[in-house]
Amino acid sequence: MILPGKGGLTMSHTPDAAVADRLVEKARTARRNAYCPYSRFAVGAALLAESSRIYTGANCENAAFGAGICAERAALSAAVTAGERRFLLLAVAAGDKPVTPCGICRQVMREFCRDDFLIYMGGPEGSYETHTLAEMLPFGFSASQHMK
Ligand code: THU
Repeated sequence: MILPGKGGLTMSHTPDAAVADRLVEKARTARRNAYCPYSRFAVGAALLAESSRIYTGANCENAAFGAGICAERAALSAAVTAGERRFLLLAVAAGDKPVTPCGICRQVMREFCRDDFLIYMGGPEGSYETHTLAEMLPFGFSASQHMK
């Protein structure tokens, strides 16, 4: 259950619907800042850290296509470079159809998030689908398992 805290959110176990709704809404707002002149596919993400702070990101493309970054990694990079290391859930929104994070973003989540990290994919009219990271990235590579 997540409780509204001072200026943020505190998670004690599983998130309630209000928290998921708020994160999805923040992802939709972040989407407005997407820079996507090449794909014209705007994506926003909002990430809840264990600190209860929320970090947002949007996709930022480049004329050299491979230099672009997805919304999810933009949010994760902002959070990690602000000093965060542990995360609870992420919402991603790209319009009416739920978008699923790409493989690279899932692997970056694997670096910082546990199996029960929740990913909310926003759909039409405030709806969303949700899956854990373990469901989204089975058998992902992690340093703790392979680089002891
Ligand atoms: N994109 C994201 O930002 N997140 C996703 O989950 C899927 C794809 C971006 C990358 C690129 O800027 C555009 O969407 C089209 O692939």
